[in-house]
Amino acid sequence: MENKNWIYAEGLDDSACVRFCKAFDITKPVQRAEVTATALGIYNLYINGKKVGDALFKPGWTSYNYRLQYQKYDVTDHLHTGTNEISFLCAPGWAVGYLGKGNINHTYADHISLTAELRIDYTDDSALELTTDPSWDIIKDQVIASEFYHGETQDLSAAPTTIGKAKADAAPDTRLIPDESIDVTEHERLKPVKLIITPKGERVIDFGQNLAGYVEIRVKGNRGDRITISHAEVLDRDGSFYTKNLELARCTNTYILSGNDDLLKPKFTFQGYRYIRLDEYPFEEVDLSRFTSVAVYSDMERTGSFSCGNEKVNRLYSNSIWGQRSNFIDVPTDCPQRDERCGWTGDVLAFAKTAAIHYDVSAVLRKWLHDLILEQKSDGAIYGVVPSVNERGMRVSTAWGDVITVAPWEMYLAYGDVELLEECYPAMLRWISYIRHSGDEEYLWLGGNHYGDWLASDAILSPEHREGATQTDLIASAYFAHSVELAIRAGRVLKKDTKELELLHRNIKSKFREYFIKDGLPTIYPKYDALSVNRPVKGLTQTSISLVLRFHLYEGEIEREKLTDKLLELIRENDGKMNTGFVGTPHILHALSENGRIGTAYDLFLSEKNPSWLFSVDRGATTIWEHWDGIKEDGSFWNDCKNSFNHYSYGCVFDWVYMWVLGIRPMEDAPAYQRFTLAPHPDERLGHAEGSIKTRYGIISVSWRYENGRITYSFTIPEGSSAEVVIPGEEKRIYSPGSYNISGKCL
Ligand code: BGC
Repeated sequence: MENKNWIYAEGLDDSACVRFCKAFDITKPVQRAEVTATALGIYNLYINGKKVGDALFKPGWTSYNYRLQYQKYDVTDHLHTGTNEISFLCAPGWAVGYLGKGNINHTYADHISLTAELRIDYTDDSALELTTDPSWDIIKDQVIASEFYHGETQDLSAAPTTIGKAKADAAPDTRLIPDESIDVTEHERLKPVKLIITPKGERVIDFGQNLAGYVEIRVKGNRGDRITISHAEVLDRDGSFYTKNLELARCTNTYILSGNDDLLKPKFTFQGYRYIRLDEYPFEEVDLSRFTSVAVYSDMERTGSFSCGNEKVNRLYSNSIWGQRSNFIDVPTDCPQRDERCGWTGDVLAFAKTAAIHYDVSAVLRKWLHDLILEQKSDGAIYGVVPSVNERGMRVSTAWGDVITVAPWEMYLAYGDVELLEECYPAMLRWISYIRHSGDEEYLWLGGNHYGDWLASDAILSPEHREGATQTDLIASAYFAHSVELAIRAGRVLKKDTKELELLHRNIKSKFREYFIKDGLPTIYPKYDALSVNRPVKGLTQTSISLVLRFHLYEGEIEREKLTDKLLELIRENDGKMNTGFVGTPHILHALSENGRIGTAYDLFLSEKNPSWLFSVDRGATTIWEHWDGIKEDGSFWNDCKNSFNHYSYGCVFDWVYMWVLGIRPMEDAPAYQRFTLAPHPDERLGHAEGSIKTRYGIISVSWRYENGRITYSFTIPEGSSAEVVIPGEEKRIYSPGSYNISGKCL
């Protein structure tokens, strides 16, 4: 599509929606008709008043400063002989609406604009072409205003009215590209669980499940009656509706009723919620059957499954799945409720492996990585959020920026996506070069402004210090080594010359050891850590040991054993609990399992103390929380701000479950599970476990069960693949496609 024919509506208020409309005549039989369109803002296409397709929030969210997707629609069946009408209902969306912290709108454009073309090919070989231009009508629609954060207002009692003509607009300074998103659509539909009258007398409906989406209401009221609903993830300790954690996002939808049967739901917004409060509701009785909670997310194929004999773990699994559903709305985001909902890179880094098993995320992450590459600065810097929102206060942080090596590598392992690896490889090298030239020590990353082990509970001064206790120089230097290691592996797959990277890795490792390893254990390097001016930091933590083990920064078996023992000791000293944050949590169970301590990994996994995964389950969580103790033992909140109950990051524990509990592990030299390891590790506390991964080669399934003093294993290896099977207590064996049952000893 060419970047021309843009139109806009003059004088629109902030948050206002607008419809652009044009009538046209058809006098001859139509062979085919196609609409091509895009907007700054988000739009729905209608032909003769009927919405075309079921996708939401088009044109999708990309780094609009660089690229804007356009869509194509086959509208042949929507047309009829005579007068027809094409219209686009538009809302501010990501480009124009409020986005990011600080109540800021107009991130990419200060008004909504649209470009579209309709091409009709007639059966007699003639054609009609119609494009957006100043002859299009501007219509004030029943959808009056809409914002992702603040919600939507619709007046169904008012007839849409023409208020003028469109104006020609300058083409935005960006590149138009074909849509590479998969559509965001409606998914699960949930009925209310109960009506609650809170201590404050509020009428609240509980849908039983936190999610991202919206509530649909079917009503018939008097013309002009109003319904306003607010959304919340949790109730407070007293059982009242709680919205403080939404921060500046108002998350409120208002409808003025038509007087006829109305189906109320927003068109251009979504909320993150489990509960709604009826702020304005014209009926005495609340008929719950009129309400439906609709989950909305990118139309990804479900590829993973898991269940076991522990209901709390099953709930946790469901929470991880819901965390993904709620945060894959075209862009992988941190959370779906407060005034953020942004593509935080560190959250993707933590969750990418799990995400790629739960669902096929290849399309969503490919598009997102393309944006990341475009937004990478010329010196290689990668900021914390992609697509960028506003860079004020944004950091270039270790483990956030390292997503450029981690995510493409995970896509390669899960789907064999060599093309994406190739596309990302130069960006990996630029990121590595950025780190190399940061600070005054070429082989370490000292100083800088990092997020640290974000939200780790070992922060020494107070939980208000969100960066955790682990010295950020140590984390940054360890991740530097890891990114170089991944770049080497990617380079080998891509048949690049990796000698220089290998030398760099050796140098980083030896410098790392010089600065950060003393007597075989991680230690603090006293000179740096910009964050240490605000808080005391440590070198020896659960997170630092996990990183040293996982990134192979130790030397020899004795040191490895010493590190593992120390990790166990730190866990013991901490009352058997972990205290890791966004950086350490994705690694700690793997670090234990890879070093022969899977029992302790299970202990942490099954712990219900604070912090632990099941702590939130015990407090009724239906999604993964941002904070281990978002709701504390006494029912109070961790804090009123930055306390999301729907962050997927800690849901990353399921990559450990798939890889260790079920034991399915992809192999680097035969990705996409063409060859894989199958090494289940049963634990009697789960009783049984079963799960599957739908791979590019078919479905791998595994189950094990404790029965009559033995363990029965069943597994299926799909056609076209093979597995190296390691059953505890048995010899390692290669299995070809087929289904197998094995009876093994309880060890
Ligand atoms: C987001 C996180 C993100 C972090 C950066 C938060 O506000 O919600 O998930 O990674 O900022 O530290």
